Amino acid sequence: MKKVITYGTFDLLHYGHVRLLERAKALGDYLIVGVTSDDYDKSRGKINVRQPLSERMEAVRQTGLADEIIVEEYEGQKIDDIRKFGVDIFAIGSDWEGFFDYLKEYCEVIYLPRTEGVSSSGIRSGDSELRLGLIGTATNVDKVARECAIVNGITVSGKAGDIQDAEALFQDSDAVYIFAPPEEKAVLIRKALENGKHVLAEAPLAADTALLRELTELAGAKGLILMEALKTAFSTAYRRLILMLKGGKIGRIVSVDAACTSMQEQTAAGVANGLGSLHDWGPTAMLPVFQLLGTDFRKKQLYSLNDPVCPDLDAFTRLDFIYDSAVASVRVGKGVKSEGELVVTGTKGCAYVPAPWWKTDFFEIRYEDPSENQRFFYQLEGEGIRYELKAFLDAVNRRISADGIEKNVTEAMVRVMEDAKEGRDRTFLSGI
Ligand code: CTP
Repeated sequence: MKKVITYGTFDLLHYGHVRLLERAKALGDYLIVGVTSDDYDKSRGKINVRQPLSERMEAVRQTGLADEIIVEEYEGQKIDDIRKFGVDIFAIGSDWEGFFDYLKEYCEVIYLPRTEGVSSSGIRSGDSELRLGLIGTATNVDKVARECAIVNGITVSGKAGDIQDAEALFQDSDAVYIFAPPEEKAVLIRKALENGKHVLAEAPLAADTALLRELTELAGAKGLILMEALKTAFSTAYRRLILMLKGGKIGRIVSVDAACTSMQEQTAAGVANGLGSLHDWGPTAMLPVFQLLGTDFRKKQLYSLNDPVCPDLDAFTRLDFIYDSAVASVRVGKGVKSEGELVVTGTKGCAYVPAPWWKTDFFEIRYEDPSENQRFFYQLEGEGIRYELKAFLDAVNRRISADGIEKNVTEAMVRVMEDAKEGRDRTFLSGI
């Protein structure tokens, strides 16, 4: 039996794909199709794929041409597969001419002429673009604008620095990105939703739980997406880490410890919210705690030291969470320096993410026997903003909430910050 193998993303399956599969199949008796995983595509810079792996695999299955469908997950897998399945022919479109000649050592390599005039990218670019208005300070908005240029399907409809300009922006936009101090942010989110616009707003989404509920309900009633921008949640390494740990890689999790500090001064947004380091770092620092241990903690206690320049704001806060059978402790600081690492303790091993863990491309799973340790690297491009924008676009296109941050996690973060502001479960030590 002659076995043929081919690989591709097969996004929005089109005529060119089907013709490729037909010709590949005709080269032998048994066709194996490798469909690239979402993470593998992202790691090789292909972030614009519209359909998730399951849908792309299903589309290939429905052609009835594949005898076997596998997932391609890593660089170098082709050699592994060719050996494992005893493949005779590797076939691929002529856009890859010469690129896979190194496989000739293992099997025959055939480049099939690419079908002219059709491609997934072409189909994607024909889709209607999401017109995104950017509201916020110039530095922030410019950074997001640069990333929008990389994400297929989003065009920047304009920029606004304040509420007056923002209103004009609504006319030309389908959605808005908002970076603003809490009160202004609340007004802007409400106005955007009332005007029928989807919203992507920097965390924390709201200053208190009542407001969060109101805005979430408004978005729901209007059938709009309201998503929190917190780039760590969308970075590949972080997401992989969370999935791995939830899958039991280090056994049962007993402790999560993290620190997020920076030497910058307090921000205007923090001042307006009456919280310092807790405002700027709280959502990021609490993210792994709530995503790994859930939000049903039994008790919490915060210890804060006030800022010498802005005595109403915390320069440093330690947040302790007590669960039924786990604990977590995170430290946040502005004008205070700590080692910004994340350590997750489990019954079989631990996970270590070096500083700055919130924008990492690397983590290590460590065991008692160091020879079993495993290191994982994932490319992080654009600080994770482009992945966040892509998640937002997918959420808008599919009208489902984005898969980065669970609703209960957002709620818990807002609840902790609201309690902190009201002084609940919080001890103030004498300032710095
Ligand atoms: N292919 C083809 N003719 C086309 C498009 C794709 O023969 N018009 C082949 C590719 O050469 C490859 C396979 O189909 O062997 C899967 O390609 P894939 O990269 O998934 O499709 P593209 O349409 O090229 O996707 P993109 O535009 O995102 O690069």
